[in-house]
Amino acid sequence: MAKQPIVLVALVLLLVHVRARDDNGLGASFIFGDSLVDAGNNNYLQTLSKANIPPNGIDFRASGGNPTGRFTNGRTIGDIVGEELGQPNYAVPFLSPNSTGKAILSGVNYASGGGGILNATGRIFVNRLSLDIQVDYFNITRKQLDSLLGPSQAKDYLMKKSIFSITIGSNDFLNNYLLPVLSIGARASQTPDAFIDDMINHLRNQLTRLYQLDARKFVLGNVGPIGCIPYQKTINQLSSDQCVDLANQLARQYNSRLQDLLTELNENLPGATFVHANVYDLVMELITNYDNYGFTTATTACCGNGGQFAGIVPCGPVSSLCSDRSTHVFWDPYHPSEAANLILAKQLVDGDTRYISPMNLRQLRDL
Ligand SMILES: *[C@@H]1O[C@H](CO)[C@@H](O)[C@H](O)[C@H]1NC(C)=O
Ligand SMILES: *[C@@H]1O[C@H](CO)[C@@H](O)[C@H](O)[C@H]1NC(C)=O
Ligand SMILES: *[C@@H]1O[C@H](CO)[C@@H](O)[C@H](O)[C@H]1NC(C)=O
Repeated sequence: MAKQPIVLVALVLLLVHVRARDDNGLGASFIFGDSLVDAGNNNYLQTLSKANIPPNGIDFRASGGNPTGRFTNGRTIGDIVGEELGQPNYAVPFLSPNSTGKAILSGVNYASGGGGILNATGRIFVNRLSLDIQVDYFNITRKQLDSLLGPSQAKDYLMKKSIFSITIGSNDFLNNYLLPVLSIGARASQTPDAFIDDMINHLRNQLTRLYQLDARKFVLGNVGPIGCIPYQKTINQLSSDQCVDLANQLARQYNSRLQDLLTELNENLPGATFVHANVYDLVMELITNYDNYGFTTATTACCGNGGQFAGIVPCGPVSSLCSDRSTHVFWDPYHPSEAANLILAKQLVDGDTRYISPMNLRQLRDL
């Protein structure tokens, strides 16, 4: 007899909860990209690009400080953005056995360390998921959503409640175009213009495929100042306030073409919104004015080894580890620390058009 009111209260609470989430929360993030946002896909590949070794993940609360395959000490930008927008769980890595059933309703992460826009990118790591394959995998998820929600609800969920983020392009330069001629780099045979043309044409094709699969709310990160990462500064023996010009020039050239592409797609794909995340200027601001943000260095990796900036050997159990991880912009020779990711993500979610345009991610979610 006493049971009924309890059931009723529970039901009311459930309805209120569902209503609240419907009005405010993000349903799902579908995350595409490289090691900046990989949340564990590479754990399931035979690859040289791995982060499931300590001390990676040392500050990642959800795993109790154990490595998860994230290439940083804590949360990635993708994790933090999802949290900020009210997504109930982190997007699950596509290759993990957990990416089945209801778990995919919070989104799926297809990102892969070493991956690029072009298929040949990252071959040096043996295996990685390039963007073509990441989109093929989303096509599989798309069918799973149809059977979970029914075709019409699935379409609605994807078009209105889901954000598609794509963080890719750095490896097309670092682990393709800029690799020495001896390797599979394209520099020997292609001008920067031709190479960047290839990247943009490939990306247009993949974004259009996602649109055909009902993606509507997109955010694309441009390529950061890859000439300023500890790895580049160390191997080029630069001083702490210098960056490698060629690498940064290539990034800026690609970034300007990316902006044009997004303008074009905003005009040509009805109902879609493409948001541009200016990661280059954001990271450059952190590097230039690091002390304004509570950092003591934007040059030396917290975890790494070799050379002046610990920038040669990737982070692993035998690397040196800094004593205060929150004071380093860079976690390892390539990737920002969680402290840096928190600042970057906050700007993407709530910042102004200097860094995120034509609208920020909170506004994109609420469209
Ligand atoms: C998969 O799910 C299990 C059980 O919920 C959890 O313990 C494990 O950490 C999850 N693994 C990943 C990679 O998310
Ligand atoms: C890249 O790989 C994808 C998937 O394997 C394939 O469909 C595509 O044709 C390849 N593109 C090029 C330019 O080789
Ligand atoms: C998705 O997969 C189906 C086959 O199952 C194929 O016909 C379709 O072209 C694919 N869509 C995209 C955008 O790749």
